[in-house]
Amino acid sequence: MRNRSESFSTLAIHHGYDPLENEGALTPPLHLTSTYAFETAEAGGEMFAGERPGHIYSRISNPTCDLLERRIAILEGAEAGLALASGMGAITATMWTLLEPGDEVILDKTLYGCTFSFMQHGLAKFGITVTHVDLTTPENLTAALSAKTKIVYFETPANPNMRLVDIRAVSEIAHAHGAYVVVDNTYATPYLTQPIKHGADIVLHSATKYLGGHGDVVAGLLAGSAELVSEIRLYGMKDMTGAVMAPFNAMLILRGLKTLELRMERHCSSAATVAEMLEQSSGVAKVWYPGLASFEQHDLAKRQMSQFGGMIAFELEGGMAAGRAMMNRLQLIARAVSLGDAETLIQHPASMTHSTYTAEERALHGISEGLVRLSIGLEGIDDVIYDLEQALPKPALHNAA
Ligand SMILES: Cc1ncc(COP(=O)(O)O)c(C=O)c1O
Repeated sequence: MRNRSESFSTLAIHHGYDPLENEGALTPPLHLTSTYAFETAEAGGEMFAGERPGHIYSRISNPTCDLLERRIAILEGAEAGLALASGMGAITATMWTLLEPGDEVILDKTLYGCTFSFMQHGLAKFGITVTHVDLTTPENLTAALSAKTKIVYFETPANPNMRLVDIRAVSEIAHAHGAYVVVDNTYATPYLTQPIKHGADIVLHSATKYLGGHGDVVAGLLAGSAELVSEIRLYGMKDMTGAVMAPFNAMLILRGLKTLELRMERHCSSAATVAEMLEQSSGVAKVWYPGLASFEQHDLAKRQMSQFGGMIAFELEGGMAAGRAMMNRLQLIARAVSLGDAETLIQHPASMTHSTYTAEERALHGISEGLVRLSIGLEGIDDVIYDLEQALPKPALHNAA
């Protein structure tokens, strides 16, 4: 029994698993089972009544998912975790559990495209008021809260424009009003920010991204108090969405978590180098990266994040046309959506991940048409820089004659 407090990587590799309790198997077994045998009919009945622990059916729980749930909980500093089929599964299961017709949800201005679509077009159809507030100024929340507000929801850094939200300040205001705070921590990961420790009630992830880390699985995770997580498991996940994670996918995410710290260190150092290089390149109008001194919320980034992540947004002087032309000249960097993979990926939010917004909505929500999003991978940094430099617009040559 180890008793000293352990580091992030040690917990990500060891927490919740003892090989000696599993025939010496160093790697946790993959429990490919949909259902579980009860010792007696009475024992089964007691499990259904919640009077006895144990697995009943894999749409509720599974031992491989269970280990992953314990790992995400410890890494996020939460009581309990939950594994779901996708990031959208985590988001929808949470919202269907906590909201009722007549409630209001307050959202930051900028959200991932499908999250925006679910809230704006999905929830709104069921009698829920959806209000967007610029949470980069936490005081805006005070004015916006109403007796109906049940949830305050945001991403930090936000996809795709990197806006940050002060989790502690927003949580204090929301809690004084009795509202839950739900934070999408996909961009930062628990290695850089632990929203629960800053006051959030639920933290959730597209585990498809950095937590999996290898671009081979779609998955979601969330963490929070044992009571809230149990409610989301038994209602939002089991009944309302059925968005349960497959045990095989849990195994891939468990493997990804083992190297999360190592990968994040490399993502962060490479992204910092690329952000500085872009900022100094002619033809680049603006770069958004929380680690840059020029980043408007750099002070908040230093307070809330241990490092500044692997994501960068930038805009070229020629806007959307120049951005597209540059993307088409890239040879190593892949033109692809998603993020957090070993491969460096580039995409154009207005026509891809955020095309769920109308052009007017993008303008209102701070997503410019020319914005290009880069997810810096794990390749040799010189190769990534070389590819970007050869693709960026060249300064105009002046004829000396
Ligand atoms: C910030 C953020 N949240 C949630 C999601 C949805 O996750 P998934 O694709 O795993 O459903 C994404 C997907 O890109 C995302 O970027």
